[in-house]
Amino acid sequence: MTQSLTLRRPDDWHLHLRAGAMLRAVLPFTAAQFGRAIVMPNLRPPVTDRAGARAYRDEIRAALPAGTDFRPLMTCYLTDRSDPDEIAAGHDEGLFTAVKLYPAHATTNSDQGVSELRLVMPVLERMQRIGLPLLVHGEVTDPAVDVFDREAVFIERVLAPLLRDLPALRVVFEHVTTADAVAFVRAEADSGRLGATITAHHLMINRSALFAGGIRPHLYCLPVAKRERHRLALVEAATSGAAAFFLGTDSAPHGITAKETACGCAGIFTAPAALELYAEVFDQAGRLDRLEDFASLNGPRFYGVPVNAGRVTLVREAWTVPERIDVSADTAVVPFRAGEPLGWRLVSSSV
Ligand code: NCD
Ligand code: ZN
Repeated sequence: MTQSLTLRRPDDWHLHLRAGAMLRAVLPFTAAQFGRAIVMPNLRPPVTDRAGARAYRDEIRAALPAGTDFRPLMTCYLTDRSDPDEIAAGHDEGLFTAVKLYPAHATTNSDQGVSELRLVMPVLERMQRIGLPLLVHGEVTDPAVDVFDREAVFIERVLAPLLRDLPALRVVFEHVTTADAVAFVRAEADSGRLGATITAHHLMINRSALFAGGIRPHLYCLPVAKRERHRLALVEAATSGAAAFFLGTDSAPHGITAKETACGCAGIFTAPAALELYAEVFDQAGRLDRLEDFASLNGPRFYGVPVNAGRVTLVREAWTVPERIDVSADTAVVPFRAGEPLGWRLVSSSV
């Protein structure tokens, strides 16, 4: 049995860091594990231009623990009023790594997202021309569509037509949760222009877990976890080594009181054990040999950036995920698998 595993230092291609005290509490976990992370722009107010992204990047840098070389990769939040010149300028100066499409009202802090795709066509055309990737939250918002079907319906109503209309646009289908999404990404694989991130929690839980013994607010996220057959398709995709699939935790911290309430927020906080969770999945699938492709190599290849120079080492060693992470005197966050044992532990990280 493999007892220790050394990988190229991985990256997290989809992460929520928030701001202020929450940022300061959660950032050290990610910086300890990953070389870079794509930082989501769904703050309040969202990061919609260069000035907002520069200020947010400065805040993240100021919150980094001493001695880390972690690099935040900034994204721009697309709205109905986004200006193609502003976004292209942010790309030119190396500030924007990607642009994020939230269909309006699809998820947390998406109320200023895009109401109709035709309104942002000039921006998307410019992104296609300059090679700036579009990251999509792939769920329709039509209330008539069942919440468990919103990703599959998004493929047919939005994503397939978008890829057809803009044949050179580079797109990441974020946090895929269905066998339908996996099949769609695989069918596009030859083009090399469609990638997909997969979270640790969607590899580990199905929708029954949300209701195991009672309602489990800390397992609620969007897109919501689906049936077991979908989880199995995700595990197969992630552990296959296929270049289109790469690591994106979608670690999304919310204070306890925002989760444990009559109408709780969507978001699962996996950052304290992110790499260890993925290692458990790959180990159970008998594919630890593919973890480096998924976590450290496929993402940089998609984005056309070098892989990280450093290495990380995981060992087979039991430890317990903390019950809660304190944020301030009156706020804490409950991590995924809180208080439960994990079998892999990150022991060293070199830059
Ligand atoms: C994310 C958040 O809390 O910002 N929530 C989530 O359930 N994943 C937003 C998102 O990525 O959908
Ligand atoms: Zn997210």
